[in-house]
Amino acid sequence: MVSTFDIKINKIAKSRVSEYDVNNVPFGKCFSDHMFVAEYADGKWQKAYIEPYADVPMSYATSALHYGQAIFEGMKAYKNANNEVSLFRPLENFNRLNKSALRMAMPEVPEEIFIGGLIELLKLDEAWVPTSDTGSLYIRPFIIATDEAIGVKSSDTYKFIIITCPAGKYYSEPIRVLVETNYFRAVHGGVGFVKAAGNYGRSLYPTKLAQQKGYQQVIWTDSKTHQYVEESGTMNLMFVIGDTLLTPELSDTILSGITRKSVLALAHEWGMKVEERKISIREVITAHGNGTLQEAFGVGTAATIAQIITIGYEGKDYDLPAVETRKFSNRVDETLRNIRKGKGPDTQNWMLKVS
Ligand code: COI
Repeated sequence: MVSTFDIKINKIAKSRVSEYDVNNVPFGKCFSDHMFVAEYADGKWQKAYIEPYADVPMSYATSALHYGQAIFEGMKAYKNANNEVSLFRPLENFNRLNKSALRMAMPEVPEEIFIGGLIELLKLDEAWVPTSDTGSLYIRPFIIATDEAIGVKSSDTYKFIIITCPAGKYYSEPIRVLVETNYFRAVHGGVGFVKAAGNYGRSLYPTKLAQQKGYQQVIWTDSKTHQYVEESGTMNLMFVIGDTLLTPELSDTILSGITRKSVLALAHEWGMKVEERKISIREVITAHGNGTLQEAFGVGTAATIAQIITIGYEGKDYDLPAVETRKFSNRVDETLRNIRKGKGPDTQNWMLKVS
């Protein structure tokens, strides 16, 4: 089903992989040998090709640069002990990209292009997939509007591109987060539930202010009351209070994270009490006060599980229990790593073998 689209392949003359230690590179700065590109024009996807990763000439009038018709995905490929490469839940990313495309008035990508192109790309760049315990190949599929035009309208032409980069841990240490009660990430009726480039651009200023105060990230709150927590940085947010795993329920202001969904599935599989609902910051602070707030962490593709060690709220810092004591998030982190690295049973059939 995924291989009927003809993909022209122009291989790099000499791989650059030996220039890097793929198990030890900064996140998102070193790109593998090839990139996949598909072009959309005249109402359909026209051609698809793989080329050596390179800069490409582009007009400064390219519409994505001006009005943000740009969406992306984040996903990862892993290598097991036999050097076989697998993808984690790739159809989830495929479906979510198309949800983003619909909301941003962009064309949906067929599965044969998304999955078929990605598999061909990974076959060429297998050597770039890290072997270390916490390493993976981060995959960035994205669609941009490519009309050379600065009238405000949805573009007639687009490119779907996949680039990849070896990645280790996104956060090297547990993070300090500040509850943001002035700016917000997303608003009802907006685009917070999809991966639109503008969601990330708008987050940078409040994040910079939080960083100036000594925090790494913010906890976003709802735009109307700033009473309810939504996400943290670029991640979904979870707490363990008492014996219950809590996370904000999905809405049009919250991204439907694939790591979020996977963590919830494991919690259910383990018989843990799980609640997806509105969570007020007051509830979190009260739980801290009475000693029932045991764990707080962000979950996302890039970060996997990012432990939160301190929550700043209204001028006060609330320190959380030591990371070593956190039974649920440590177990889920290890379980996900084992599934991805082929070291533990993939009970929910999440991995798709590429090689
Ligand atoms: C991901 O976790 O893939 C994200 O979207 C975060 C990213 C913007 C680095």
